Amino acid sequence: MSFARFETLLKQTMGLDASTVGASMIERAVRDRMAAASVADADAYWNLLHVSTAELQELIETVIVPETWFFRGHEAFDAMARLACERALRKGSQPLRFLSLPCSTGEEPYSIAMALFDAGLPAARFHIDAVDICTRSLAIAGRAVYGRNSFRGKSLDFRARHFSQTEDGYVLSETVRRQVRFQSGNMFDADFLTGFGAYDFIFCRNLLIYFDRPMQERAVAVLNRLLSQSGLLFAGPAEAGLMVRQDMVSAGLPLAFAFRKADAALPVLKPWAPPPKPLPPTAPPTAAVRPVPRAVTTAPAPPPPRPAADAIDTARQMANQGQLVEAAALCKRQMQLHGPSAALLCLLGVISDAAGNRGEAREHYRRALYLDPDHYESLSHLAALLQMQGDAAGARRMDERAGRSRAKQGHA
Ligand SMILES: C[S@@+](CC[C@H](N)C(=O)[O-])C[C@H]1O[C@@H](n2cnc3c(N)ncnc32)[C@H](O)[C@@H]1O
Repeated sequence: MSFARFETLLKQTMGLDASTVGASMIERAVRDRMAAASVADADAYWNLLHVSTAELQELIETVIVPETWFFRGHEAFDAMARLACERALRKGSQPLRFLSLPCSTGEEPYSIAMALFDAGLPAARFHIDAVDICTRSLAIAGRAVYGRNSFRGKSLDFRARHFSQTEDGYVLSETVRRQVRFQSGNMFDADFLTGFGAYDFIFCRNLLIYFDRPMQERAVAVLNRLLSQSGLLFAGPAEAGLMVRQDMVSAGLPLAFAFRKADAALPVLKPWAPPPKPLPPTAPPTAAVRPVPRAVTTAPAPPPPRPAADAIDTARQMANQGQLVEAAALCKRQMQLHGPSAALLCLLGVISDAAGNRGEAREHYRRALYLDPDHYESLSHLAALLQMQGDAAGARRMDERAGRSRAKQGHA
């Protein structure tokens, strides 16, 4: 039985590129749906998909990857909250407009609301639209009751502030829930969010990685249409390079993966991290370029290599600005100078992931964990990567280890 036509249909409908989740995953989904719809024959199921929008929606819901958690990539929320407060002052009484697309089961838009409340922004000063193609995920978002899998960050202080613990799980406060308006939508629909006006902040993270290049380009065009002229777009780490290729400009916020329109009238951000310092030389000049006199031994000693932590920050900034090759080269140079470390290997993993080299990313995380089996960031990144590659059991194991590492470090 050939499943290629189902892959094509899914790509045309929702953008999904089968190679990102694996053709076998699509095949499994089609077989599951055929069984659920009591259709034994692939041709009959193909015909059903063309006459029943409900069945097409069921198939879509079977292939989506709903992976998400609260404050995923917390640097984005930290930067967004700080900038939103600054911008709210300038915007007068007009509330700030946020879009979380895709919002999955609600953790991302609720994190935006919590971050804004925690930064002191009153409820009347912002509202959040949250959109996803998956109605099942939206139903979970609407209930706003969450289990431990939704809480994976290092610091979980926000949970005590905004949730109450019940037998069913952690229930989000009504105050936070009221700020978010959920709706279903497919970002490739011709009338997607038309008439909604432009957004000051858009979170579109961990969606475009599932598309091929032409669909990514279409998606960025949609986001451009929805983003206000001075707005900020937050992407996922693996999507930063793509944004730069699509003429978006990095906002220069370390590890926030934030971008603005290339033709934005004013730079909207004040840099809040020190500019990158010059890097240590990679190698002494070669004799062919500049002969070294013997007297070199009497010359002043070269400055000692900068501490690796400094270089890691620089490499992070470079990666955030889409300079993935340079960032990776800097990490490797640091390892030559100072030896490998879990932090450097983990960052190399993030960079490889951002460049779309998932196999390489996995190797880097594994090497980081060989050096430091409790390295929290490596465990969390590897868990997310394995989950995305369809290895749910492996992801769960890494996630449990991350939880134990967090507990060892004294976090809730
Ligand atoms: C991995 S989750 C990302 C959630 C969240 N933004 C995050 O980063 O944690 C991907 C989500 O994209 C949604 N999705 C997939 N294709 C979509 C489309 N064409 N339009 C809207 N949502 C889509 C899926 O339903 C899924 O919930």
